[in-house]
Amino acid sequence: MARDPVKLATVGDLHWHVDRRRTFHHHFDTVHEVADFLVLPGDLTGSGLPEEARLLAAVLAETRIPVVAVLGNHDVHTEHTREVLAILRGAGVTVLEGGDAVTFTIRGVTVGFCGVKGFGGGFGARCLTPFGETTIKSFIAETKDEAARIAHDLAGLETDLRIVVLHYAPVEETVHGEPRELYPFLGSSLLCDPIDRLGADLVVHGHAHYGAERGQTEAGIPVRNVALPVLQRSYAILEFAPDHLPLRKRKAG
Ligand SMILES: [Fe+2]
Ligand SMILES: [Fe+2]
Repeated sequence: MARDPVKLATVGDLHWHVDRRRTFHHHFDTVHEVADFLVLPGDLTGSGLPEEARLLAAVLAETRIPVVAVLGNHDVHTEHTREVLAILRGAGVTVLEGGDAVTFTIRGVTVGFCGVKGFGGGFGARCLTPFGETTIKSFIAETKDEAARIAHDLAGLETDLRIVVLHYAPVEETVHGEPRELYPFLGSSLLCDPIDRLGADLVVHGHAHYGAERGQTEAGIPVRNVALPVLQRSYAILEFAPDHLPLRKRKAG
């Protein structure tokens, strides 16, 4: 008899404002009935204010399944990042920043998550290069640093399922729909390089509010843009059938 799939509920870009406390409260009340994990890929708050984080943390603290998140650019905007992290972690949320991959076991399946906020730079042949002004070099150095953190974590993650959580997009496909002028600020192929090189089963991200929900890396790894404005629903449910996992492991090997 086939085993139950591992299920993720995932939604990004909640942009939790002080006046939105009722809007989402019921969205997570029953999430434990339909998923094993709740995954939140960044822009958890409107502008990174501690009071926004506290309101969201109060809701997430009641969630009966593990909550895994990364921060987004909005969450660092007012530079209360340490306090926001402490509030969310105090509520039991696993907030990934690179170098801190986590593993869980669900019905005999080991599930690993690693993640970073990520950063921009653009995609493919149009990806920004570290040339010219110091500011340009610093910009792309930040993206490369985030990519290095993903590489470090994936290299050490020996689980049946390996899930990468980002805020910025690792592929162009899931930002399609956004103005082209914004692409360099929505993500970067540099984030995808370690994922294709080291293998993963899924990448979830947000940030591209007007992008496309589904995409994949060059190596065929599924990428999902689960920004709330893209989903237009409380969360996406993504399933992994345990009986199909050995196929992925053979590919990775
Ligand atoms: Fe956002
Ligand atoms: Fe964002």
